[in-house]
Parts: sequence; structure tokens; C-alpha cells
Amino acid sequence: MSDTLLDIKDLSIEYHTEFEKVYAVNGLSLKLNYGETLGLVGETGAGKTTTALGIIRLLPDGIGIVTKGSIQLDGTDMVHESEEKVRKLRGKTVSMIFQDPMTSLNPIKTVGDQIQEVLRAHDRSMSKAELSRQVDEMMEMVGIPSYRKTEYPHEFSGGMKQRIVIAMALVCEPKLILADEPTTALDVTIQAQMLGLIRNLQKKLNTAMILITHDLGVVANTCEKVAVMYAGEIVENGFAEQIFCQEKLHPYTRGLFNAIPKLDVETSRLEAIEGMVPDPTQRIEGCRFANRCRFATPACSQEPPYVEVENGHFIKCHLFSGENRSGKTIPETVSGSLTREKSVVSEKEVS
Ligand SMILES: Nc1ncnc2c1ncn2[C@@H]1O[C@H](COP(=O)(O)OP(=O)(O)O)[C@@H](O)[C@H]1O
Ligand SMILES: [Mg+2]
Repeated sequence: MSDTLLDIKDLSIEYHTEFEKVYAVNGLSLKLNYGETLGLVGETGAGKTTTALGIIRLLPDGIGIVTKGSIQLDGTDMVHESEEKVRKLRGKTVSMIFQDPMTSLNPIKTVGDQIQEVLRAHDRSMSKAELSRQVDEMMEMVGIPSYRKTEYPHEFSGGMKQRIVIAMALVCEPKLILADEPTTALDVTIQAQMLGLIRNLQKKLNTAMILITHDLGVVANTCEKVAVMYAGEIVENGFAEQIFCQEKLHPYTRGLFNAIPKLDVETSRLEAIEGMVPDPTQRIEGCRFANRCRFATPACSQEPPYVEVENGHFIKCHLFSGENRSGKTIPETVSGSLTREKSVVSEKEVS
């Protein structure tokens, strides 16, 4: 059996609304092995949620459209497979944890019934006793006493609700979890607890995960691989240790790192990555980050190549192509001194 669980090739997704066409995902390629954890990072509007919705095929009907490329998930063509087959895969092969737990919870059903429904959708033959046993076990696993299964969502705190959503996402032991900013709405202590919980369960069940976040700190603690998304494409992809050692980085990723306040450097104010994210309703030739990049050259009007700068570490940038590939002729600032600058992005910029 191949190691590859998810293989996305040259995927483009557009939103066609009454007024405009939004190019949300542009030629994205990504691979994930069974059991692997990938952090998908990038600013608001980068196309992270759209990518996840594409994978689980929950794009808004008639509005979110895959216009190009393929998504193979555990041997299934998620772009062309019938709706009936895809429905069966949701929960069992792939499940999604949304940022707001109420996206997944029904306010007028008990939480026990909701977890049970996920189980029943995949196995109609399960006895009542067995269903009940599995619901209890899953609730205990996420740290909620099972006697609370007869309660309704509003009787739980935000963190508890998210635990129930995690229970629903994991109860059928899917091969892939898409966790879309699962902790953003929670306070910091609960955030850490929740990530620990997801990570433990995921290890126990050997579930692969795509963790969508704007927080590189979260990725450092949780993920083996990192993909950085900018304006609908992946500009950098590699093992976490390659990205976090910060030796060779895409200028945009460098900017994200500078967004993390450093305890050892005095910063008087947080400085944003200058410039604006390109208008997603416009098609762009060449590098999409060029208008904000301080290393941009005329070459950047051409589509940048994906360069493997070290084993398994890819950067989509002209700085690393051709004679620059070894990194020798890259301006010193790219690989070093930028980190010493005071540029720090405000929370708003990266969230
Ligand atoms: N239902 C929708 N209709 C039109 N445009 C949308 C819709 N959902 C998202 N978009 C647009 O698609 C782009 C990508 O959004 P999204 O995938 O939500 O980004 P992220 O999750 O990285 O913040 C943004 O420009 C966003 O405004
Ligand atoms: Mg999002």
C-alpha cells in the first residue's frame, strides 16, 4: 500500500457569486501520508478553509467550484466521486472540526444523540447497547463525564462544546481530520488543553491531520510538517524543523516569523508586513507576493518555480532558483538579518 493518504494536484477553487468571481485557491499541490500532521498557515483570506472544504467536498453548493486539478483521498477521487459515496466517507475517512463549535452542533439535540448519529450514519447495524458504550467511551476520551450525554449544547462551556465536536469528529476513527482553527475561539489555557487532546487522540488512532492556524507557535508544538499559504497557493512546504530553523525561508514566511514578538528583542511597536494581500477577484501573473516583497526583482513578474532547497523543503520563489539555488547569492537579509529587524505583524494581519 502506498504511504500517501492525500494527494492534491494543481487544485484551483473559485467562488462564483452574483457579483464577482473569487479565485480562492490557485494551482495548489499538497501531499500527506497516513498518520502525518501538517500545519497549514497563512493570513485570513489565503484560502485555507476553502482548501479544507474542497478536500471534504463541503464547498457551498453552486458557488464554490473546483475549476482545475485533482484531490485523491485514500484512493477516492474527491472531485468527481458521486455525492452518495462522498457522504459515506465523511466522518469515516475524513472529518472536519470547524472554528465555531456551533457550526457542527445542533442546539436542540442532546450531545450524546449527536455523537451517536455520527456512528449510526456509518453502521446501521450497531446495537443500542454498543452505540451507547461507544458514545460513553468517546466522551470520556475527550474528558467529559459520560453521564452528561443527556445534556444539550447550551449547557456546556465553549471549551466543552469544542470537546464534543472533537468527539464527533473522531468517533468513527477517520484517517484524516481537518481541524480549521479549532482553538481560535477559546482562551489560551483551554487552547493548549484542546491541542494536547487532539494530538493525543490523533496519535492513539494514527489519524493524519491538517491543522489550519495562523499561529506558528501552535504549529511548532503540534505538527511534523508545515505548509505556508499565501493568496491561494502554497509558497513553502517542508518539515517543521526545516521551517523553524529559519535558515532558508520564503520572504513571506520570514514575515510571519517576524510577527511573533521576541522576548529577547525590545520592540516598541508591532510592524505589519507592508502592503496588501492581492485582490482575490483578479488573476495575477508571476509571484503573488511580489508587491509586498522587499527582495522583488523584475524576474518576479514571471511565475516562480518550486525549488527543493533541501530534502523535502520546497520554496516557491525566484530567490532560490537557478544560480541562487544553493542560497549563496541570496541577499544576506533573507537568510539572516531580517529576523533582527523590528518587523512584527499585528494579530489582525495574520489572523
Ligand atoms: N462563500 C464564499 N463566497 C465568496 N467568496 C468566498 C466565500 N468563502 C470564502 N470566500 C473568499 O475566498 C477567499 C479565501 O477564503 P478562505 O478560504 O476562507 O480563507 P482563509 O480560511 O485562509 O481565511 C477569500 O477571499 C474569501 O473572501
Ligand atoms: Mg478560514
